[in-house]
Amino acid sequence: MRVLSGIQPSGKLHIGNFFGAMRQHLQLQAEHDSFYFIADYHALTSHPTPDEIAGHTLDVAMDYIALGLDTEKTVFWRQSDVPEVTELTWLLSCITPVGLLQRCTSYKDKVAQGLSPNHGLFTYPVLQAADILIYNSELVPVGADQKQHIEVTRDIAIRFNNTYGEVFTVPKEHIIESVAIVPGVDGRKMSKSYGNTIEIFEPEKIAKKKIMKIVTDSTPVEDAKDPDKCNVFALLKLVASPEELGEWENKYRNGGMGYGHAKKRLAELVTDYFKPFRQKRAELENNINYVKEVLANGAERAKAVAGETLEKARQAVGLRK
Ligand code: ADP
Ligand code: TRP
Repeated sequence: MRVLSGIQPSGKLHIGNFFGAMRQHLQLQAEHDSFYFIADYHALTSHPTPDEIAGHTLDVAMDYIALGLDTEKTVFWRQSDVPEVTELTWLLSCITPVGLLQRCTSYKDKVAQGLSPNHGLFTYPVLQAADILIYNSELVPVGADQKQHIEVTRDIAIRFNNTYGEVFTVPKEHIIESVAIVPGVDGRKMSKSYGNTIEIFEPEKIAKKKIMKIVTDSTPVEDAKDPDKCNVFALLKLVASPEELGEWENKYRNGGMGYGHAKKRLAELVTDYFKPFRQKRAELENNINYVKEVLANGAERAKAVAGETLEKARQAVGLRK
């Protein structure tokens, strides 16, 4: 099955990205025909400086490769190296109702957070649809926050096929429900754009400092606590073994446990989880040319597929008659 997903180079990758998306991407590559890309066109919607976007693109590439991306099998590239996707975006834009985009909660949320709504941010889901459709993707593994964008993609694909004939494969989203949304240190969704992240390859001391500051309620140490309402427990769920998690759940419910205690253990577990990949990450940093080669090779493979689909779409709408 063709599996595709994208991740924005909008900052250093964090454990929300890992548990919400990257982990699935890495697991799926063994069994499927995987296409993963770094969505630098999408990242432009939040106004990075040129150095930021270039630096973060390489950071994301190094993170993926260090964490186990199979550079031989998986097609891994930078979105903007295949500009065919922007032409398809235009063809799709012309059949996308404005109301469909107005209903997108991620757009509404970003505006509510004070981001100035540029046109790119508004039409972002159409570019995302083009990403998915141009590579004939069947399965799109993403975090729960992206579900609506995949629904928009399906809607656009069906509209296009109904209007012009069967050009696109209608994809399915693939969401790991058990992970849902990973909270950040302030309790909101962990996100690079909220500055509330714990980065995957952050120096261990800094990660610990952030973890010790995770927002909790003010229940006194001796009282019973509800693990399901606690940000620390939500993160423990991702890194603790089932037995240890059960023990923490009892400690929460029985009272007599301070949040500081749980945070300390969380910091250890997060550090241990990513320790095996640090060495490889450091090696890649000293071999940027290799990282660039991987992306260039991926772009070539991606371009071959994109070019074919785009040509079909052009013909379908009548641009080549
Ligand atoms: P960010 O919000 O930090 O900019 P992205 O929007 O680039 O992250 O998300 C990249 C991938 O990681 C997406 O598939 C998204 O669903 C997933 N993801 C991001 N943040 C979280 C989170 N807090 N919990 C679960 N998944 C997440
Ligand atoms: N919008 C996605 C995010 O912020 C990134 C993305 C861009 C994507 N194009 C995609 C994800 C295509 C899946 C498929 O996480």
